[in-house]
Amino acid sequence: MTDGSDTNRPVAIVTGASSGIGLSAAKALAEHGFTVVCVSRGNGAGAQVVERLRAETGSSGLHYLPADLSRPREAVALASAFRERFGRLDVLVNNAGAFVPGRVVTDDGLELTFALNHVSTFALTLALLPELRAAGGRVVTVSSNAAMGARLQLDDPTSERRYSGWSAYAWSKLCNQLFTAELARRLEGSGVTANAVHPGFVATSFGHVGGPMGGLVRLAQRLFGRTPERGADTVVWLASAPEMRGRSGGYYVDRRERPFAPRARDEEAQRRLWSLSEALLERAGVPIQWPADADQSGLRSPSHRAAAVP
Ligand SMILES: NC(=O)c1ccc[n+]([C@@H]2O[C@H](COP(=O)([O-])OP(=O)(O)OC[C@H]3O[C@@H](n4cnc5c(N)ncnc54)[C@H](OP(=O)(O)O)[C@@H]3O)[C@@H](O)[C@H]2O)c1
Repeated sequence: MTDGSDTNRPVAIVTGASSGIGLSAAKALAEHGFTVVCVSRGNGAGAQVVERLRAETGSSGLHYLPADLSRPREAVALASAFRERFGRLDVLVNNAGAFVPGRVVTDDGLELTFALNHVSTFALTLALLPELRAAGGRVVTVSSNAAMGARLQLDDPTSERRYSGWSAYAWSKLCNQLFTAELARRLEGSGVTANAVHPGFVATSFGHVGGPMGGLVRLAQRLFGRTPERGADTVVWLASAPEMRGRSGGYYVDRRERPFAPRARDEEAQRRLWSLSEALLERAGVPIQWPADADQSGLRSPSHRAAAVP
């Protein structure tokens, strides 16, 4: 352990920090005095962005770790790389996400949107649980109001039967909320909190998919989108505000608590998604699970049936 233990600064990870909301959140957290570990795909702009943020903020506490989070295996490797250099984790911002217009299947047999937006979020959070517990940390997951109209696809999580980019995206964002609610329940009394956020409609690279649709998204963003700084505001507030210490299990829009999407409030669905996510990870050769000795180590261990992968 080197980087994180040099100082008493709190430590944050921000996934998807190479652009948009994640970049703004990383910058703001660095300005709030956090050591910030920025994550994005290694072939992207991430490393240069971190150089630029160092210059802009004057912070020496900005670091870069690459991971392709469409592969849960890389999410777990990221957690190991983090562990080697930093001992504690005060804030995990699960922000990396994408809209994918046509169905793409990853090497793990997962649909890309679901793999990136949900499965790796699940895997990374569970893999970092010891570091979060060491700090009494906060998990902030960037969901979306797109979840409001989402179908519950527990019987077809990777959209094999029918695919539309928007439905897959909305389902993945519903998963962010189902996951947050179940995680918060399991973490009750542990000192670690979990909340989800809708950042608003934000002018970022999100949805820049080319073709007429990409053009429409760019136009709408220019006309109606808020700035990435504004989009990151509630994320940063959940991650750092003293008044949010200990508050868990909520969904926030513009610093106000709002109800989860209707289908995210179903506790049975929350438990089933959890169980399914563990099963999918096991199938992908990444057997990461809620600690078996949860009850002895101050965590909750809700009873649930093991799910078969549909
Ligand atoms: N923009 C909006 O209006 C809006 C509204 C509601 C919710 N959201 C949510 O906000 C979050 C951030 O989106 P944004 O608007 O800031 O979009 P963005 O500008 O496109 O940023 C997406 C970030 O995710 C990273 N990323 C993409 N694929 C990745 C992968 N396979 N592995 C690791 N990182 C990956 C990208 O980095 P690289 O490409 O460099 O890897 C980038 O840093 C998403 O979860 C999105 O669903 C956005």
